[in-house]
This record gives sequence, C-alpha cells and structure tokens, in this order.
Amino acid sequence: MKPKVLITRLIPKNGIDMLKDEFELIINTQNRNMSYDEILKASKDVFGIISMVSDKIDSTIIKKAQKLKIIANYGVGINNVDIDTATQNGVLFTNTPDVLTNATAELAFGLIMALARRIPKADKFLRSGSFSGFDPVLFLGEELYGSTMGIIGMGRIGSTVARIARFGFNMRVLYYNRTKSPNERLIDAERVELDELLKNSDVVVVTAPLNDDSRHMISKKEFALMKDDAIFVNVGRGEVVDTDALIEKAKTAPLFKVGLDVYENEPNFDERLLELKNCILLPHIGSATRKTRMKMAEIVATNMIRVKNGQCPLYAVNGGQLCRAND
Ligand code: DGY
Repeated sequence: MKPKVLITRLIPKNGIDMLKDEFELIINTQNRNMSYDEILKASKDVFGIISMVSDKIDSTIIKKAQKLKIIANYGVGINNVDIDTATQNGVLFTNTPDVLTNATAELAFGLIMALARRIPKADKFLRSGSFSGFDPVLFLGEELYGSTMGIIGMGRIGSTVARIARFGFNMRVLYYNRTKSPNERLIDAERVELDELLKNSDVVVVTAPLNDDSRHMISKKEFALMKDDAIFVNVGRGEVVDTDALIEKAKTAPLFKVGLDVYENEPNFDERLLELKNCILLPHIGSATRKTRMKMAEIVATNMIRVKNGQCPLYAVNGGQLCRAND
C-alpha cells in the first residue's frame, strides 16, 4: 500500500506529477482552504502533509497523525506549525525559502510603485471615460528616486527589497533587525533603532516573519512616528501590524499610503480596510510568479520523496534534531 500524503490545497501540476506514482494523494481541490477540523480528520493516517502557510498545524493534529513523518510547508513562513511538537514526535518540518525571495521582493516594489504613482486609480480613471488629454496636474504622485526606505526585517526578502531600492532608485536604506545583516556593507544599508527608521523613512516596508517578538510590533506608537505622507507596505505577516492602529493612521493622515499583501487572521481581513482611500489590498500573492510557485511545488514534492526514501529533506527547519548532517 502506498503511503498517504495530504495536500491541503492544489499545488502546481509539476509537484503532483512527481508525487502521484509514489503516494496515495489526498488533495483538497476546492477553491478554499481546508478548515482546521477537515485537516485534523484528513491527516489521521498520512505519511506526509503538504500544508499552506495559512493552515494551522498544531500539536493536536501532529499527535493524532500517528504515521506522520513530514510536514512540508508550501511557503517560507513557519509560524503556522507547532515545530516543537513536530520535533518531539519525530516529524520533519520543511519550508521553501530562497526560491520565493525575488518574487516577494518584486511584489513589495510593485505595491510601492503603484502607491507612489497612484497607478490603480489612474487606470480606473481612464476606464471610466474621464481621460480628456494630457493634464499637467493630473494624478501627481511621489518620486522614489533619492528618497529614504526603512525595512523592518532584513532577512532574504528584506535584503532584496533593499538592493532594489539602493541600486535601482538610489534610495537611502535604513533597516531594523534583531541582528546585523551580513549584506549591510554590500547593499549600503544602515541598521538603526525602530523609532529612527519610522521617523525618517518615506517608504516603510515590513518583511519580518511572525514570532513572539514581532506580533503587533507596529502599533499605535509606531504609526504615530511615521511621516503622514509615508508609503507603508506589508509583505511579511499580517499579525506583525496592529490593524486597528493602521486604520486609525490612514484615516487621520489622508496622504498616508498603504499596500498590504497579508492580513491578521487570514483568510479573514478587516473590512474597514476596504474604505481606506490610499490603499491597495492584495490576496497574499507575494510569491505568486509561475516560476516560483513551480519551484515551491518541486521542493515540497522532493521532500516527500526524500523522506520516504530515508533521506533528509531540503530546507528542514528542525533537521538538526532529526537528520544526520551527512544525509
Ligand atoms: C510565505 O511563503 O510565507 C509567503 O507568505 C507566501 O507568499
């Protein structure tokens, strides 16, 4: 009998093709994420779970899945899985870093450009039949060249955003990170305290992952420090930002611009965001380029196969404890 693999939401076909002969696949083909109870029920006797970053895989699910050997998260974020319980139960946990760095950094820049130059509104304007010829004061926006960017979370994605800002737009780059970035000199970025970053940045980008330290790291006090006409973009995790405080800032500062790809409690989002004027809301598509999503599918499929064959998987988050280094 083939071991079972639960895939909580349909991944690109290249991944399915790699898996279909080796495993019995239980795939959620519905156009929605599986609920917690559905995952709990479906994972009971599976060998592996390919989970989405919005699936909560907690200790109850892991302990109940007696045959579980690997959880392969389809994404770089790791906050949705109880890693300690996985490790204690001998379950490997992997993610898909690196392959999505450029895609996510590019999307962050897409949001920045769209907000700076009011691109969605200008597009809507033309489509509504309002274009009456070149107008010297039509849709005036902000110039990024030479302005200051502040990056909160200087990991792979933050460093890539920094590089684009520094060398593509001649921006001064400030960053806030627990540790000094090894890329600091190369990118010509300055590590500063959070308050200093917020006060001085024309563009603030959040790429920080979610953990106990970062939850609601950007709240009322932090928004108060930001410039009233700043651009604020979050492509990290929704929970890093206090949504109430964000909405209050955007309501009291009409020139404050907001671009979000992630939300607290996804797939829910605060409907008050829809009422904000200078705001672009995307459905968590940071890594959504064809190339990246196929690579992510290849990694999760490779990891299922490797573990089935007794090898260490790629990008094992808890590999140190569960895999021999020379595997
Ligand atoms: C991830 O991989 O964690 C991202 O949020 C997906 O875009």
